[in-house]
Amino acid sequence: MQMTKAQVLAWLKALAAEYKARKEYLTELDAAIGDADHGINMDRGFGKVLEKLPAMEAKDVGAILKDTGMTLLSSVGGASGPLYGTFFMKAGMALAGKEELDEAAVKTLLETGVEGIVSRGRPVLEDKTMYDVWKPAVDAYNSAVDGGAQLDAALDAAVAAAEKGVEATIPLQARKGRASYLGERSIGHKDPGAASSHMMLVALRQSLGG
Ligand SMILES: Nc1ncnc2c1ncn2[C@@H]1O[C@H](COP(=O)(O)OP(=O)(O)OP(=O)(O)O)[C@@H](O)[C@H]1O
Ligand SMILES: [Mg+2]
Repeated sequence: MQMTKAQVLAWLKALAAEYKARKEYLTELDAAIGDADHGINMDRGFGKVLEKLPAMEAKDVGAILKDTGMTLLSSVGGASGPLYGTFFMKAGMALAGKEELDEAAVKTLLETGVEGIVSRGRPVLEDKTMYDVWKPAVDAYNSAVDGGAQLDAALDAAVAAAEKGVEATIPLQARKGRASYLGERSIGHKDPGAASSHMMLVALRQSLGG
């Protein structure tokens, strides 16, 4: 099964719409344990990506993802700009020249992107960050594909793991980023970056259709 370039473009468009619609929600999550800017950051970043999409459309999937990363790096401040920017830049560089993505290529996208997040933020599991969504999602995707699953089923598995991951951030005490300054008071709140990462995976699955 393949994810076409049109579906990758549809993913990025859907993300711009989703972060616009969920701007207040993400900002409320960040108001509880951060500085109330996460929804604003995501909406601004993907709004810029949306503006640039017409100029990207003729490029290959790798170049589209790399341009997306550069746009996020230059338009989103805070912690999440460099983290998501690096995710898309690294994934794009690893997929240079691709016009569509099969199971192995989506594995490369997710793994390389998450390596980018790790190299930037040095998160470990249970730090209460977006990594608590990405790590189980990538693991679930990989075991599904290794077991012979097609792209749609493997992404279903990734989304299910991401859903659990985002909920699992609630009882954790933050050890990275602004929320860590709160110490024990960060317990009992959902991590905003974990929530926006879950949305990213849901939109990726939906862009495939079916
Ligand atoms: N070191 C890190 N590694 C991985 N993810 C991180 C790290 N630090 C923060 N995050 C993620 O980034 C999210 C915060 O993103 P946001 O856009 O609100 O940036 P910010 O913390 O306000 O940045 P700044 O403090 O620089 O203004 C957190 O919810 C968390 O998921
Ligand atoms: Mg913030």
